[in-house]
Amino acid sequence: MSDAKKKYGTKGARNMDEIARTIFAPIYPVIAEMIIGMSGIMKGTCIDLGSGPAILSIAVAQQSDLSVIALDYSDDMHKAASRNIEDAGLSSRIGILCGDVHAMPFDDDSADLIISRGSMFFWDDIHTAFREIYRVLKPGGMTYIGGGFGNKELRDGIAAAMIKKNPEWKEFNQKNISLENAERFQTMLNEIGVPKYKIMLGDEGFWIVISKTETGALA
Ligand SMILES: C[S@@+](CC[C@H](N)C(=O)[O-])C[C@H]1O[C@@H](n2cnc3c(N)ncnc32)[C@H](O)[C@@H]1O
Repeated sequence: MSDAKKKYGTKGARNMDEIARTIFAPIYPVIAEMIIGMSGIMKGTCIDLGSGPAILSIAVAQQSDLSVIALDYSDDMHKAASRNIEDAGLSSRIGILCGDVHAMPFDDDSADLIISRGSMFFWDDIHTAFREIYRVLKPGGMTYIGGGFGNKELRDGIAAAMIKKNPEWKEFNQKNISLENAERFQTMLNEIGVPKYKIMLGDEGFWIVISKTETGALA
């Protein structure tokens, strides 16, 4: 088992669920609004990669007519996600699926929107993962993949709370949401031949927005 997978075993999943429902709670509606506002995609299928406790999936479902698939490879995360989805009364709109981002159990060209927050920093092979994402995305579809805390005010408050909880978090977060990391992902997107994408790096975090062109496939 990879170190990333071990991190989200029983204890790690419980910890992430607790943080997502408390310290991080205000960021998810803000991120969902940003995703839906920027993409303009309100219906169809949305896949949330590395969905964890599914709080972003819930916020997206609440703000749109999208059907959401929350995909994660951790069984313990699924337990938390399932409880949270049920509590939100969204069991008919959000499905939970066990799967790895590097080999996704989805047909080609099947998702209107692919989103992910705070997960790609743990992926073993970003080239394979993004080839998969592009394969699954429908022509005309969009991604919103990265990490962040909504806006400057929320980010600063959360950073203070998280550093208090765990001083090592500061370095981990700074490394993830950095120019160097953005350049690493940019190089990867160019290497796999994604024709149309934008990288956002600012107060809202670090986000990769891919628009799949109507012509489809990668070279
Ligand atoms: C920091 S948590 C973020 C959870 C959620 N997206 C959020 O923002 O609240 C990272 C999640 O990514 C999942 N994950 C990491 N690598 C994965 C992979 N290769 N395939 C599927 N899930 C993965 C972990 O199990 C964990 O639930």
